[in-house]
Amino acid sequence: MTNDSIPDLTAFDDESLNQAFAALEQQAREAAAKINSEEDVEAFKLVWLGRKQGRLTEVSARWLKAAPAAAKKALGVRFNALKAAVEELLESAAGTGPSDAALKAEAIDITLPGTRRLLGAEHLITRTTNEIVSVFAALGYSVGVGPQVETDYYNFESMNFPPGHPARDTQDTLVIASQERRPLRDRLLLRTHTSPVQMRTMESQPPPVRIVIPGRVHRNEADDATHSSTFYQVEGLCVDTHITFSDLKGTLDHAMRALFGSSVKTRFFPSFFPFTEPSADVQISCIFCGGKGCRKCKQSGWIELLGCGMVDPAVFAFAAERQPAYDPKKISGFAFGMGVERIAMMKYGISEIGQFYSGDMRFLSQFV
Ligand code: PHE
Repeated sequence: MTNDSIPDLTAFDDESLNQAFAALEQQAREAAAKINSEEDVEAFKLVWLGRKQGRLTEVSARWLKAAPAAAKKALGVRFNALKAAVEELLESAAGTGPSDAALKAEAIDITLPGTRRLLGAEHLITRTTNEIVSVFAALGYSVGVGPQVETDYYNFESMNFPPGHPARDTQDTLVIASQERRPLRDRLLLRTHTSPVQMRTMESQPPPVRIVIPGRVHRNEADDATHSSTFYQVEGLCVDTHITFSDLKGTLDHAMRALFGSSVKTRFFPSFFPFTEPSADVQISCIFCGGKGCRKCKQSGWIELLGCGMVDPAVFAFAAERQPAYDPKKISGFAFGMGVERIAMMKYGISEIGQFYSGDMRFLSQFV
């Protein structure tokens, strides 16, 4: 559209003026109707209202100038009306925003079903760990954690496994490479049990202590249905004056009944751990057959579940290097350690330990 399309006015009677202005306004309306974008708005403004070459400027220049003096007023009135009309068209077009097509592309169909978000759930290992921890929390135990990459000192030496002691061989250890130039006690390894956190706890606070320590441990073991080179334990430590083996028995008997049901019985078998003396393995009456004997308990009626014992005085002596209050003559205590997977497998009837780590939703979603 160019301004050349503005015709010259030759007749100045009311009828002719009305027709000429009506034609222009019609053109403006048609142009405004095609406005679809910001750029269109700008272009319309320039073509119609541009100061130098806009159509209205042109109209005013050509028509007003050519008009005889008697017609100037009638023309001026109509010109102002046209200008107001064009400005109004511009104003309402500026508010039009994006085109229908653009709006449709962006539109959300609120009648479509929403995106379903899968609800997460605690992993069975986490759930079982929390169950064990809360049994002891209810008895007043606090909760602690320690590092998975541990020093030889905390994992072994301070737990009364002296360098070269054969008991170290029972815990097939994964060691961190290139540690040979360090003194043995500082060499790093993947902790084989959560017991080193017993020592870290005692070094950081004087007795009394009642703490449970959940965590991941590692052993250089071949995986099979019930063993994994990475697994989880919950450690327990109780230190105070006059703590006896009876306290240990009563605590674990209560804990097993809280975890497996009040009809479960416990029994304690002599065992060996370097850091406890005496040491015991705890068995519970078979939760599958109630103790009568079945395949799960190999007809014995009992299932072995955890290790425990009275804290060895040699362990207290290591703790006393930092915290003199751990004087084995004045205090005593017990410790225990249990495997989380083993307990979860019994509680939830799982026969393959590898299922815990597979990430297979068909397995995991059974326990939501
Ligand atoms: N740390 C031992 C293990 O991993 C378990 C245990 C902990 C035994 C505490 C006695 C006391 O086999």
